[in-house]
Amino acid sequence: MTEGVGASATDPAAVRERRRWGWQILNRCPKTGADVLALLVRLMGSEAYHLSYYRIFYWWVGRATPVTAANYGYAPLSPSTASDARAETYQMEMYHQAALQAGEQGLRGRRVLEISCGLGGGLDHLKRRHGIGQATGLDRSTIAIRHAAKRFGLSTLAGDARSLPFADGSFDVVVNIEASHLYYGREFLGELARVLAPGGTVVMADFRYRAPPECERELRDDFAAVGFDVSQFRDITANVVAACEGDAPRREALLAAAPWLLRKLGRPWIGTETSVDYLDMRAGRAMCFMLAARRMST
Ligand SMILES: C[S@@+](CC[C@H](N)C(=O)[O-])C[C@H]1O[C@@H](n2cnc3c(N)ncnc32)[C@H](O)[C@@H]1O
Repeated sequence: MTEGVGASATDPAAVRERRRWGWQILNRCPKTGADVLALLVRLMGSEAYHLSYYRIFYWWVGRATPVTAANYGYAPLSPSTASDARAETYQMEMYHQAALQAGEQGLRGRRVLEISCGLGGGLDHLKRRHGIGQATGLDRSTIAIRHAAKRFGLSTLAGDARSLPFADGSFDVVVNIEASHLYYGREFLGELARVLAPGGTVVMADFRYRAPPECERELRDDFAAVGFDVSQFRDITANVVAACEGDAPRREALLAAAPWLLRKLGRPWIGTETSVDYLDMRAGRAMCFMLAARRMST
């Protein structure tokens, strides 16, 4: 079991988990401004830091930019995604890959919940391209879900991944993209098992500061402990790194246009040559995975 499992995100173990990657970043930051970063990294151990960051981020991108997704992306692009008129092709490819991972029936006609849907661009892509029966988006950020509902007409709710406002067995598929590191633990996994119908599937993509074999073993154990069978596990680090490289000009332009505070806060996470997250992925200090797990019938 991972450190985070068995603990809520406010428990010392979960806080340690968040600090672990916070320190990784601080250790390789340029010395100028390191004092400010040290303070930020200390704050990274708290949920308040993340919630504040996303509040500022969504407030700005929602009103001043065409951004609708906030994941690192996936490359190469499949022909169907490449032909999509939207600029965020790498981010949409991540969702396309998630749909492919969802098993034989895929998403067609199914009740799909995206936990941490953000601004809704990814869920909208799945709805348009993969024929979801009923799409529901949930996110902790009220700004983001309002934007998703207004822009895409999606059915969205504000809520916490560790305490989902849905009845047992409400969904056939749960999608969760680059967000679990913020709240991963037994509460979240228990909620996945509860809201999925027996035989339902969860598709998750994210990053971890772990070696791939260790990451895979931990996730398989954690999912098994709450009644899931991990049917597929892929190391997608090289795909994510390639997407960061292909998408770098768009990201840098976005950052250059951002207000000062967001430029400072966003730099370590934006996934370009000057960002610690990208360098860590490229050097193998952090890895990205995509998994599909099936809820076993009880
Ligand atoms: C990196 S973004 C990914 C958003 C989206 N999946 C995408 O790819 O565009 C992480 C998301 O997790 C959300 N989040 C953070 N804590 C959460 C929680 N406890 N419950 C639900 N969502 C949360 C944030 O508001 C943010 O939208």
